[in-house]
Amino acid sequence: MTESTIAIIGGTGLTSLNGLEITRREVMHTPYGEPSGPLTHGVLAGRRVVFLARHGYGHTIPPHRINYRANIWALKNAGIHRVVAVAAVGGITREMHPPRLVFPDQIIDYTWSRGHTFFEEDLSHVTHVDFTHPYDEGLRQALIQGARGIGIDAVERGTYAATQGPRLETGAEIDRLERDGCDLVGMTGMPEAALARELDLAYATCAVVANWAAGRGEGAGEISMEEVNRNVSQGMDNVRRLLETVIPT
Ligand code: HPA
Repeated sequence: MTESTIAIIGGTGLTSLNGLEITRREVMHTPYGEPSGPLTHGVLAGRRVVFLARHGYGHTIPPHRINYRANIWALKNAGIHRVVAVAAVGGITREMHPPRLVFPDQIIDYTWSRGHTFFEEDLSHVTHVDFTHPYDEGLRQALIQGARGIGIDAVERGTYAATQGPRLETGAEIDRLERDGCDLVGMTGMPEAALARELDLAYATCAVVANWAAGRGEGAGEISMEEVNRNVSQGMDNVRRLLETVIPT
């Protein structure tokens, strides 16, 4: 595996990668239990990549039950250095309209009771990783430049609110997230990003706005799964195009 092999963690709407020539599947066992599935090794746009479906290949694992530690540990131990995390989100602020892509630059963690650190057992050696800039700027810029290069309509910054799920938020919760400075909301951004930092993986998120968050958007009615699926499927077409551009860099 080369220094530059990229891993893609696929979220809702991206449980497989079209165009990925699969070379092998690798079942990993970790000290933290089982990852969401085997790692899929393959070649995309002429470069080696590793793909992992965050919710399992049949999309059966809800956000609060994902074994984030096992997933990140497995990627690290497969020799990966860079991770692009794809995730469906709700849009809170005006720019975040469906089905845009967003490359967040900040995150606020509202999740609880998830296995959120690798530094839990060896308490003689407490490690506080720096997390001032939670996403790797080099990888974020690669996504930004890649999207610009192929004319994809994307928002190049934003603060991601990581909520517990699996239910969607109330209107008042979204109001609070906006007061906190959040632009988009999703259920899987943490602890994934922090765990990647703990293992020194370069990590950036490519979010697809699947819906207006609760109480936002025209009419501000209930969030329909039909709308979510339609936007996710449109957004993921752009994600696939983008990944094919970014991976060779
Ligand atoms: N809230 C939280 N997570 C989400 C949403 C949302 O509105 N849409 C897609 N993932």
